[in-house]
Amino acid sequence: MDNKISRIGVFTSGGDAPGMNAAIRAVVRACAYYKKECFGIMRGYEGMIEGDIVKLGARSVGNILQRGGTILKTARSEEFRTEEGRAKAFKNLKDEGINALIAIGGDGTFTGLHKLYEQFQLPSVCIPGTIDNDLAGTDYTIGYDTATNIAVEAIDRIRDTALSHNRLFFIEVMGRNSGYIAINSGIAGGAAAIVIPEEDLTFEQLYAVLGEGGKTSKSSNLIVVAEGSKIGDAHTLAKQVASRSNYFDIKVTVLGHLQRGGSPTYFDRVLASRMGVAAVEGLLAGKTDVMVGVNDKKMVYNAFNDIMNRHHVIDSESLRIAKILSI
Ligand code: F6P
Repeated sequence: MDNKISRIGVFTSGGDAPGMNAAIRAVVRACAYYKKECFGIMRGYEGMIEGDIVKLGARSVGNILQRGGTILKTARSEEFRTEEGRAKAFKNLKDEGINALIAIGGDGTFTGLHKLYEQFQLPSVCIPGTIDNDLAGTDYTIGYDTATNIAVEAIDRIRDTALSHNRLFFIEVMGRNSGYIAINSGIAGGAAAIVIPEEDLTFEQLYAVLGEGGKTSKSSNLIVVAEGSKIGDAHTLAKQVASRSNYFDIKVTVLGHLQRGGSPTYFDRVLASRMGVAAVEGLLAGKTDVMVGVNDKKMVYNAFNDIMNRHHVIDSESLRIAKILSI
């Protein structure tokens, strides 16, 4: 293990995700285990630029494992996109003696970390924390499992009321440009159709699925729409269906930030714990400019350039079974 690394800075950045606290805890405790000092950088790159840095010890992260959000807070920083902004941030890290970084966040976070590495060669590892599950190089990102479970619970609740009124519901879920939350909450929630950006589905095909005029025997129809849908969001699709037919009684529910809050599932807590330890161990073993990932249950490290230009593909099996089961 590399003893040149003595002080590790950890921060969360971009959209918060349930399980980020579990990851912070794992990083801090792994640092304590390996006798390295650990510092929390508040509000992501914003706090790095402002020098908002606090010392963290094993006891500072007690009782956060089960909490949603992030105790280190998070932000999206425009200034960090500039060389000058990164230089300010680097100076603050140097002043604190921080000689390695662990970032917890999504693609924007990893991009920022990579730019800092290019400019100053500061050893750094990213932990994927985003509900979107949109990063190649890992089967799962922290927060995705919790967010998908929340979406499934919401879909189940909507089904009760949809069924009582024989209604058609469009339910919009988050995911930015990724359809992961949509496809899996749609399968688990028994959606009649799932609209995701990864699949070329036309409005006509979607309309045909509804079976206007009682052509299907369904007494309710739930359509799950990923927010990144290429054929329109839930409101747009609902309006289009309404303008074509008065057969359906249509409602729209946009789940929004509900999906980002609350206590992480066991899966996200364990994933975050494994990734936090792997990030510290990776740094100490000399890994840098990489993201920790889990592939087929094994921890892996992926170089920035190997994964950032790739989409995290949704397997064709999921798409196939979604179609078979919505009949
Ligand atoms: O990346 C996580 C995410 O929740 C996306 O699913 C969503 O598009 C976006 O963040 C929302 O961002 P904000 O919280 O800034 O509105």
